[in-house]
Amino acid sequence: MLYVNDNIKIIEKYFSRRHSVYKVEIQSENKTPAVLKVYEGEKATVLCRTERENLERLHRLDLRVPQVLAWEEKALLMEFLPGMTVSRLAENLDAGSWIEKMAYWFARLHSVENASSCMLKGDANLRNFIFSGGEIFGIDFEEMGFGDFRQDLSEVCFFLLTDYPPLTPEKDHMVRRFLKAYAKHAGKSIDDMDKFILKSRSNARIRRATRGRDTGTVLRLSHFRL
Ligand SMILES: Nc1ncnc2c1ncn2[C@@H]1O[C@H](COP(=O)(O)OP(=O)(O)O)[C@@H](O)[C@H]1O
Ligand SMILES: [Mg+2]
Repeated sequence: MLYVNDNIKIIEKYFSRRHSVYKVEIQSENKTPAVLKVYEGEKATVLCRTERENLERLHRLDLRVPQVLAWEEKALLMEFLPGMTVSRLAENLDAGSWIEKMAYWFARLHSVENASSCMLKGDANLRNFIFSGGEIFGIDFEEMGFGDFRQDLSEVCFFLLTDYPPLTPEKDHMVRRFLKAYAKHAGKSIDDMDKFILKSRSNARIRRATRGRDTGTVLRLSHFRL
């Protein structure tokens, strides 16, 4: 088994609500760092297969995602991405190029289309993006799907605005820069975001209620306008 192997040494445990995710070192390969994700719960096998297939597909499409190094029924070993999560960058009110790079990453993903919808990240919380070597990488692909591109965009904007520190002028500016860069890269105008924002907000409320807390942040639709 991958995760009880003498060859893999656990260095650090990452924050995860659902699974067990570790930074590890592969001893036989000069202590190369890697990430081990061990899936928990009844759906562990399905989630592991889904995420592996999504990662391999996105890699073939040349989207920046970690490479799968090895896998078994309920665990994936993948490339370690040094850098910082977008959640940390946003919390630090970092005004760097990560904002435009993330918009570009989404524009590339959403350019994969079927009949009437486009490929969606799903679960677009800010811990699921890493700024590494000046580029944005997506991680955590258990909940991908097809649909309206505004679903992903409104999730990102929602988290940018409401994660700590919520609703500062800098956060407003981040959202505007993100949407503007997306519109430019994707060649799309972003209209009628209202219903998508309401959906992101109600999803967040359900999640927070399930976890027993609600930050009670009040959002105005104007926050999402370009
Ligand atoms: N390839 C990676 N490189 C660096 N850090 C990673 C990598 N994959 C995951 N992480 C870290 O582990 C955390 C949890 O991983 P994630 O796949 O998002 O698990 P979960 O499904 O539980 O949210 C991420 O927020 C990130 O901090
Ligand atoms: Mg995650």
